[in-house]
Amino acid sequence: MADFPITRTSTPKPKPDEDNLAFGRALTDHMFLMDYTEGKGWHSPRIVPYGPIPMDPATTVLHYGQAVFDGLKAFRGADGTIRLFRADRHAQRLNTSATIMCMPELPVDIIRQSFDALVSVEADWVPRRPGTSLYLRPSIIATDVMLGVHPAHSYLYFLILSPVGAYYKEGVKPVKILASDTHVRAVKGGLGEAKTAANYAASLAGQRDAEKAGYTQVLYLDGVQRKYLDEVGTMNIMLRIGDEVITPPLAGTILDGVTRNSALTLLRDWGLKVTERPISIDEVMQAGRDGTLREMWGTGTAAVVSPVGTLGYRGEDILINGGETGELTRKLYDSITGIQYGRSNDPHGWTSRV
Ligand code: COI
Repeated sequence: MADFPITRTSTPKPKPDEDNLAFGRALTDHMFLMDYTEGKGWHSPRIVPYGPIPMDPATTVLHYGQAVFDGLKAFRGADGTIRLFRADRHAQRLNTSATIMCMPELPVDIIRQSFDALVSVEADWVPRRPGTSLYLRPSIIATDVMLGVHPAHSYLYFLILSPVGAYYKEGVKPVKILASDTHVRAVKGGLGEAKTAANYAASLAGQRDAEKAGYTQVLYLDGVQRKYLDEVGTMNIMLRIGDEVITPPLAGTILDGVTRNSALTLLRDWGLKVTERPISIDEVMQAGRDGTLREMWGTGTAAVVSPVGTLGYRGEDILINGGETGELTRKLYDSITGIQYGRSNDPHGWTSRV
């Protein structure tokens, strides 16, 4: 592991209660920073006490949203070993997002080293309770000070860490989602494939309205015809109709989810029929009515594998699998978390020890 300069905090924080870890509320004692200057490239990697980043009010990220991030987790296994899940793929995806947003890529090995170095410094912050983990949030933001609309010439990479429990208040119980034909998250040719602040900003109004109507999340439909399933915003979506697992294809409007890819790989390993194709909300609702929609679940780093118990659309609610977690959803959740916590074999080499 690379030796980065470390300035240690003189005021470590108390650790949060592991039985009540809300998502992303507690932040650890240190953070990793690195600067980019045009002509010089990436430089000055360092680990420093966690704290505010001073910023001029005219900093471009604050105005034009040139900001990308990723999210991955470190898990403490029963044997005490700390493992990162698919760290390379997350590092590569951060660069994919950066490219879409006209930002400079960071060498994947430096991103990886920043993960290992900061998690090692904060090893005590990796929680021990079952179902908990340490969430890593690597981000790149534009730091030019100017008000013209233009890709910036200077950037900051930062990595912060947060001990987390389940993302949804339901825990791993089925959630209610609402397919929206009024709110749009992304369109082809836009930013939908990037993990960038704008996509989350675009999801806020839909999320607010869904919550008001008693749902946990919004299922976004394609932005042009408002007909085909896209994604949920915090997770990709998968369904089991009859004996086939169907998920929307990677066609530029949805995120190339790491958990999505892991779930599809396992399902194919198990010999299931898996199809990545456009699927319309009408087809899903019809399958719900005639009983062939057997299971539906979301996949995401924060959400892991999250069963969907109710799907709402245009005033109709479909109860899926009696509102209970389906067998394949459960098997995927158990298999992925089994690999993450080191309880089962890792045939694809997805975990790396810190
Ligand atoms: C993740 O699953 O890592 C996400 O980024 C979803 C959300 C918390 C922003």
